Amino acid sequence: DWTPAAFVQETIEKIKAQVGDKKVVMALSGGVDSTVAAELIHKAIGSNLYCVFVDNGLLRKNEFETVLDSYKHMGLNVKGVNAKDLFYGELKGVSDPEKKRKIIGRLFIEVFQQEATQLQDISFLGQGTIYPDVIESVSVNGPSVTIKSHHNVGGLPEKMNMGLVEPLRFLFKDEVRRVGREIGISEIFLGRHPFPGPGLAIRILGEITPEKVAMLQEADAVYIDGLREAELYDKVWQAGTILLPVQSVGVMGDERTYEFTVALRAVTSVDGMTADWAHLPYEFLAKMSNDIINKVKGINRVVYDISSKPPATIEWE
Ligand code: XMP
Repeated sequence: DWTPAAFVQETIEKIKAQVGDKKVVMALSGGVDSTVAAELIHKAIGSNLYCVFVDNGLLRKNEFETVLDSYKHMGLNVKGVNAKDLFYGELKGVSDPEKKRKIIGRLFIEVFQQEATQLQDISFLGQGTIYPDVIESVSVNGPSVTIKSHHNVGGLPEKMNMGLVEPLRFLFKDEVRRVGREIGISEIFLGRHPFPGPGLAIRILGEITPEKVAMLQEADAVYIDGLREAELYDKVWQAGTILLPVQSVGVMGDERTYEFTVALRAVTSVDGMTADWAHLPYEFLAKMSNDIINKVKGINRVVYDISSKPPATIEWE
């Protein structure tokens, strides 16, 4: 019988046996998987685990600072790297979704590799890979068709020529959460919605600018805070806002406006492979629309995405 307690004990022993007194470097994303994986490795080898948390400028509002603080609070040996300008610079003028993903994936590897080579005598790479990642990277990005390239699996190990430490490789998401709870990871991490590696870049349709990122971060914060306040956050699998590349006419006081539209997305799902649009209450949607339009400069229209997966995907790009 699988129990989180037994898994934790066994896994810590395995990591100790695998790594010994060598060092492990690992990238953290702020998500459940990398956080739980890091804490397990940390429990096994302590400060021989070196964590890197990259700010790609595409995270949610205040996410980088808040999450970095939490990591430090957990006692992790973590370095925060501000690489915003690098990402914005390379993404300038790019609107093709797959190109965006490729650029972000490549830059992430470059930044991480640079940090890793600055550390001395690193023998292992830690990763928060979970079982569905292993399967999805085979089925979704199989030889015949690439629907969307995910960059959180693969890429790093081959390029870095290191042994891999992947304590969650055979776990499903709910098991990862149970393990996380067992080792005392905060509910702030465990209950968090999935968030894509390329971040807000694939929720800004068309070209990305720092101004658009800032606008979307504000709208997203209103929506996510709203979901939490209305106690709807835990009822959906994932939620987010999408900035559409269209402007439309509105009226504010006596003034005609010509501004952007934000789409709200919320889905229910078991594993992200299929998903239904969430039937959020009209009153809640009405409040979100008002709040976003009133609070976020540059947005004068809010729409709600009522598409399920398939045939739509959860993300718009
Ligand atoms: P889709 O849009 O394919 O998304 O229905 C399914 C789940 O995967 C997440 N997603 C990504 N995660 N890198 C990631 O790490 C990516 O490139 C990526 N694309 C989509 C998405 O947020 C949803 O949870």
